[in-house]
Amino acid sequence: MSPNIPRRDFLKQIGAAGAGLGMAAGAALPAAAKSAPNMRAARAGRPLGAGERVRIAVIGVNSRGEALAECFAGLPGVEVAAICDVDERAVGKGIAAVRRYSKTDPKSLRDFRKALEDPAIDAVAIATPDHWHAPMSILALAAGKHVFVEKPCSHNGREGELLIEAVHKSKRVFQMGAQRRSFPNMIQAIAEIRAGRIGTTTLAKGWYANNRGSIGRGKPAPVPSWLDYELWQGPAPRRPYRDNLIHYNWHWFWHWGTGETLNNGTHEIDVCRWALGVDWPRRVVASGGRYHFQDDWETPDTQVITWDYAAGKTITWESRSCNDHPVERLSRGVMIYGTEGSALLDGNAYTLYDPKGKVIREVKSNAAAADPTNPISATGLDLDQVHVRNFVDAVRSGGKTTCGVEDAHMSTGMLHLGNIAWRVGRALDIEPATGRVRNDPAAMELWGRAYEPGWEPVV
Ligand SMILES: NC(=O)c1ccc[n+]([C@@H]2O[C@H](COP(=O)([O-])OP(=O)(O)OC[C@H]3O[C@@H](n4cnc5c(N)ncnc54)[C@H](O)[C@@H]3O)[C@@H](O)[C@H]2O)c1
Repeated sequence: MSPNIPRRDFLKQIGAAGAGLGMAAGAALPAAAKSAPNMRAARAGRPLGAGERVRIAVIGVNSRGEALAECFAGLPGVEVAAICDVDERAVGKGIAAVRRYSKTDPKSLRDFRKALEDPAIDAVAIATPDHWHAPMSILALAAGKHVFVEKPCSHNGREGELLIEAVHKSKRVFQMGAQRRSFPNMIQAIAEIRAGRIGTTTLAKGWYANNRGSIGRGKPAPVPSWLDYELWQGPAPRRPYRDNLIHYNWHWFWHWGTGETLNNGTHEIDVCRWALGVDWPRRVVASGGRYHFQDDWETPDTQVITWDYAAGKTITWESRSCNDHPVERLSRGVMIYGTEGSALLDGNAYTLYDPKGKVIREVKSNAAAADPTNPISATGLDLDQVHVRNFVDAVRSGGKTTCGVEDAHMSTGMLHLGNIAWRVGRALDIEPATGRVRNDPAAMELWGRAYEPGWEPVV
């Protein structure tokens, strides 16, 4: 832990909304933030009046967070009040994204905990690497902030369970960045499927194909001057800095990432589960490997996972990180098969087929129509902004989001189970009430993780 971070209980200081939530001592605030006012005075947690701005801190803005900053800044009645990143170069990207739509410059912060201390901030949007998602969300909820966290909502299954507890305890609004849940045509497609338009559903198939290169063999290197590597690592046990990790390549290391399966499958598999109307599976099988290159990449670049459900339904996932040949002419998508037809779901567009393969209905995506009041339609982020707006609306009204914490955990957890099955090399029997693995202690070891001492998430 950084020598300039005193071991002091963060939550005592902020008078946390959900007393008892947060993290162990490593999450204490930096000295500079000690004098912040008590969080009990924060606005967060109560429905906001129609004229009140929702103030958001966006955390982690190298790529996805930059897009989120733009989405939030473009919404009426929203102020991006802070941009936080441990890479000082990325902060500039986040500020520039906000400036495109706002005349007010957000605060720039290296340490997100200063944003959590700020009573003027209502909510956080988290787009850091996966190992931070649940621990940072839990800290933010403890500080009384509403949380929009990018998919996957957790680095492992246990974190998803803790996140559910934290959301309930804090009574704050939670949304995972599974934006398809807010796409109007996707909502319509799922409603049609669940109403029986293709009969009884039996199989859902999700896929993703890309053509990623090798990440090579990393070498130990000095930590760059622009990076606070200590705070980048946060809850993950310490490892020396290496030159092929930051940014983005952390996805392919189990220590920080969750592989292609959660990097992209969180979208498609969430849609599969939603369309079939199923909760936890009873059995999971996975196969694949790192086949294309010999390098430091640990997670599979080729993976097939199958989940069987007690209701007599199956979901499959296929990811190819290094061969982008399409399926159904799409690099990513979902097919749902039923007893009286099939459905192809492609983001905000869908096609329904009869049992002979004849198209019976085709609905094209019309992003501009998704939200006619959307002021940033030129950016291509329209549909993502509909999801972000759903979160802001829930913060205003105290209502529900389209991807609340239970759905977020179940869809993310299914994929964690797929990765666990792949890592232990055998099929897993699942407890349908909890999603935990039955009678396999070695597999359950991978349901959680070890934390850097002092940084364990606590609810
Ligand atoms: N919903 C979507 O469609 C979508 C799309 C892309 C990425 N994502 C998700 O967004 C997340 C980020 O992806 P990315 O491609 O932008 O990754 P990235 O590695 O390019 O960027 C992550 C950023 O987080 C910063 N960061 C790390 N620790 C931090 C901390 N403690 N405080 C503040 N900032 C910190 C890094 O410095 C970096 O700028 C991933 O979890 C990814 O799965 C979602």
